Amino acid sequence: MHRNESGVLVVLIQRQRFKWTASCEAMGGNGESGNWTYGDYLRLHELLELQGDERGISADEMHFIIVHQTFELWFKQIIRELSETREILDQVPVPEDDIPRAVSHLERTTEIFRLMANQWTVLETLTPQGFLAFRDGLGTASGFESFQMREFEALLGLETEDRMFGMDPIKTFRKLSERGGKDEEVLKRLEEQMQKSSLFESLIKWIERTPIMGSSFDGDDDKDVVRAYVEAHLESHLKMGQDALERMSDLDTEGADRMRERIDSSHQSAVSFLIPDGEISRSRAGLLFIESYRELPLLTWPRKLIDAFVELEESMAKWRHDHARMVERIIGKRTGTGGTSGVDYLDATARYRIFKDLWEVRTILVKPQNRPDLINAEFYGYTVDS
Ligand code: HEM
Repeated sequence: MHRNESGVLVVLIQRQRFKWTASCEAMGGNGESGNWTYGDYLRLHELLELQGDERGISADEMHFIIVHQTFELWFKQIIRELSETREILDQVPVPEDDIPRAVSHLERTTEIFRLMANQWTVLETLTPQGFLAFRDGLGTASGFESFQMREFEALLGLETEDRMFGMDPIKTFRKLSERGGKDEEVLKRLEEQMQKSSLFESLIKWIERTPIMGSSFDGDDDKDVVRAYVEAHLESHLKMGQDALERMSDLDTEGADRMRERIDSSHQSAVSFLIPDGEISRSRAGLLFIESYRELPLLTWPRKLIDAFVELEESMAKWRHDHARMVERIIGKRTGTGGTSGVDYLDATARYRIFKDLWEVRTILVKPQNRPDLINAEFYGYTVDS
């Protein structure tokens, strides 16, 4: 039995070696014997010639270039992780076993953003004077022209109309594409990306299919079940506001009126969120259901997926915010080399939200004890010990 197992192991290792040699050759390295060096495998010789040493740059400028290049390498990885997540979510229906893979891609992306947020501190070792010494040499080059950043923003689902100050990435890259060559390819790639469904859209389509109170998306009486659930939730939401008002019995008339107005307006927002244009949004009802009953075993992976998107967007917003702080420290309120207002522009971008529904649903949740009673609990793998 033992001999047999180790025999299998040897064959596996040999096969693995064969694969490694074959793929090394395919990658064009010194693969004849499968005997790569570290430098060959990582293409280090080429990589280390890309920092501009031939221009006789200062240590400050070299560090500026290396930090940018490092970010761009991470951007490449982010595009890969997010593209694979989208492929998973675009399946109809999404096989349940694939959700953990989607979550892993998102978690890695979040960690990359966290890592990059910490890298701004390296740049902060650059003094304002040190930067000014080579800033003019950049001309109009700016992170604003980072096509990979625009690609992953589009992939995630950032809409042009949601951008600040009328900024339109296609306009920027259309202008750059007049230079031809690679810049033309960039525009094509970006336009293609913008035509595909975004991760936000894919996620919403997936959430829309969430079974609500045991009723499935294509069930005969699904519309009635979902409507009853949404109405029961809204009733509970309204009551929560009224209870809060009662608890504040020591408010004077003016204070109570203001409070009532706030409660009414928050309830109206909840109604418009769940029933936009008079029609119940099944995806938002599904999202509300997952967030409200998140302890149910069957909802474990759906809520993990949603949490992973929220965490990703949060890490991205923090990364944008930290970029602005680093920029403020180095160039103050100067305009950027890309022609924007600089720090004010960057601060505004930190308020971008792509996965808006995921954020908004938090505002309309009610206490666990006030949720509508769960129907079909066993459908969600929930059992009550008697
Ligand atoms: C001394 C260092 C840096 C300064 C002073 C700086 C400054 C700025 C400014 C002022 C902008 C606004 C656009 C403009 O008008 O130029 C900007 C945008 C941007 N920067 Fe930086 N930056 C620095 C380092 C970096 C690094 C290392 C990266 C990494 C790739 C980066 C990526 C970006 C990106 C992607 C944008 C576009 C943001 C958006 O439009 O949402 N920056 N930067």
